[in-house]
Amino acid sequence: MRSLIFAANWKMHVGPPEAREYLRAFFAAGEIPHERGVWFFPPAVSLETVAQGIAGHRNVHAGAQDIYWEAKGAFTGATSGPLAKQAGARLTLIGHSERRHVFGETDEQTGKKVTAALAADLQPVLCVGETLAQREAGDTMTVVTRQLEAALGERDGRARVAIAYEPVWAIGTGRNATPQDAAEVHRAIRRWLKGHPTTATPFVILYGGSVNLKNAAELLAEPELDGVLVGGASLDPRGWAQLVRTAVA
Ligand code: 13P
Repeated sequence: MRSLIFAANWKMHVGPPEAREYLRAFFAAGEIPHERGVWFFPPAVSLETVAQGIAGHRNVHAGAQDIYWEAKGAFTGATSGPLAKQAGARLTLIGHSERRHVFGETDEQTGKKVTAALAADLQPVLCVGETLAQREAGDTMTVVTRQLEAALGERDGRARVAIAYEPVWAIGTGRNATPQDAAEVHRAIRRWLKGHPTTATPFVILYGGSVNLKNAAELLAEPELDGVLVGGASLDPRGWAQLVRTAVA
């Protein structure tokens, strides 16, 4: 059976008491199937609660939704890599579409955050993806390559990174990419990573954007997908427990 990652991005939902209750309900569904990894990205205030709640569950890890590139200092409201690590994070999302489009994060800033994540011993999960206008203009690969290049192109050494391909038009819209569309972009990302001396194998490339219980099996049947990054459909612990157990052909 091929290994698959199921990553839950809770965005700005699920505080610490809710996270405790969530994990109780999630783990009540039984052990996570073999060869499946589960990554939780709670809001920063719930990171430590989640890290404690998943302790002892092999293949379940916690990550930050974002980090700032400075390690410490007078940066009100920001969370650094070392602080996320202290709270129990193993990973961090970087350059999520909402960071880019709601908070105005630039390609250059994603690069600094990748460097900061690696320095803090956090595995970066770099999020890339095009807007609807960019897709319709035929610019998908130009945009994605620019995002990869900016975030990973000049890092030192061979970094272990994961990529999440999340087309902006598919996030929270109920309109997922087809498995074929996702696979085409995943193949191009894999080619870029292979050709790039700064990244280390093996690569994990996740698809995100309106993944749910109805479409997960069809998407994951596509071998280019190493897993999924899920927002809305990860918020209900029982639904998420079911999604993590999706039978894949
Ligand atoms: P939805 O699953 O709610 O579309 O969100 C996707 C996402 O942005 C995960 O990071």
